[in-house]
Amino acid sequence: MPGARVVVLVSGTGTNLQALLDAAADPGYGAQVVAVGADRDGIEGLARAQRAGLPVFTCRVTDHQEREAWDSALTSACAGFQPDLVVSAGFLKLVGKSFLERFGGRFINTHPSLLPAFPGMNAVRDALAYGVKVTGCTVFMVDEGTDTGPVIAQETVRVSDDDDVAALHERIKVAERALLAGTVGRMAREGWSVDGRKVRIGR
Ligand code: GRF
Repeated sequence: MPGARVVVLVSGTGTNLQALLDAAADPGYGAQVVAVGADRDGIEGLARAQRAGLPVFTCRVTDHQEREAWDSALTSACAGFQPDLVVSAGFLKLVGKSFLERFGGRFINTHPSLLPAFPGMNAVRDALAYGVKVTGCTVFMVDEGTDTGPVIAQETVRVSDDDDVAALHERIKVAERALLAGTVGRMAREGWSVDGRKVRIGR
């Protein structure tokens, strides 16, 4: 299978991973998932990868004395699969210096809000509490901050008066899966460049 090599990192149900796997089933997609890594065992994201016949690895923070040692182990585990792109798809850990030194500029993340609004772990709850009428999702290039990196792509989602966190997150995730799969495919097929905060897909 040709195309850009993608390692996906997960911590949960892995529906964003599944969107990438489904998209990559099309030979014209331009990217292939070559491995899936996690920060914990026993999650549906890893089970999805195993069902797809992919190699998986788990790197737990608690298996290391220092956060830096965990970061180095995660870096090595990913690097072993020689990825062109690493995708954080619901991966609930901030990576450190060695990971960003190795994969900076090709490590992307997806977030369930229109960044820079509502960064952090509770983006959907925070957007709802603020009372915004439009929210959405963002695919961005990871940097040292929390959800601060250059934006690659965004999609909007309307907030309904009777939304709760679960209902709104579910609708955002529909948009998020399509945005992530579409963006990774475009990056793989067309290439990309980063100039300060501006990410441009295409040559
Ligand atoms: C996504 O909304 C992601 O942005 C957030 O957690 C969710 C992960 O969902 N951080 P899944 O594991 O891909 O189903």
